[in-house]
Amino acid sequence: MTPILTIDGPVSSGKGTVARRVAIRLGWHLLDSGALYRVLGYHARNQGVALDDEPALIALAQDLPVRFVEQQGNTAVILAGEDVSNIIRQESVGELASQVAVLQPVRDALLARQRVFAESPGLVADGRDMGTVVFTSAPLKIYLTASAEERARRRFEQLKEKGFGATLATLVEDIRTRDDRDMNREVAPLRPADDAVVIDSTTLTVDEVVNRILDEAAARQ
Ligand code: C5P
Repeated sequence: MTPILTIDGPVSSGKGTVARRVAIRLGWHLLDSGALYRVLGYHARNQGVALDDEPALIALAQDLPVRFVEQQGNTAVILAGEDVSNIIRQESVGELASQVAVLQPVRDALLARQRVFAESPGLVADGRDMGTVVFTSAPLKIYLTASAEERARRRFEQLKEKGFGATLATLVEDIRTRDDRDMNREVAPLRPADDAVVIDSTTLTVDEVVNRILDEAAARQ
């Protein structure tokens, strides 16, 4: 069976960066499941589909024309031939993603697309429900978290790097709203799996988190 390592956690807990580095160190595939929800929210907006039009959203999710292309250590997200890797990182798209993500049939439609990533020699999957729903039998499940203030600060730096404007105060607010929705939704709410290793990265560097996860992985081999 393909070994799978899941990394779940709230907005800007560092999952994306950590998951990529862990995948590179292990030589495994990487699934950024949030990108799927972001692409769907973005696509819905562009197609003029209202976020409460469930049948239309389900249809979009079932036929989402998205591809993930590995390019020089990064993953390009291609939607209907257009490279949307950067644009889907905007806060407004994260908000759309979190709104479409509350719908069970939408999540069901995206399930198979996520599971195909589980290929030899292994998979690192990051998201909100990787350990609790999508890959429940993964031998190592990480729940990565950090204080809302620290996450807002990291997000601020990331957005600045990408050329998107934001203020820290708004980001703390956005993060709290999105966390609240992700943690309190009825379907696949964000929570640590019962068998997850919880890592609070508030005072840790990326390298420290990566090494801690690799140690946990080595201990299970
Ligand atoms: O991780 P990221 O911020 O890119 O995810 C965007 C949104 O997509 C999250 O706020 C969450 O609502 C949703 N999501 C989800 N399940 C996942 C990954 C993301 O519901 N596995």
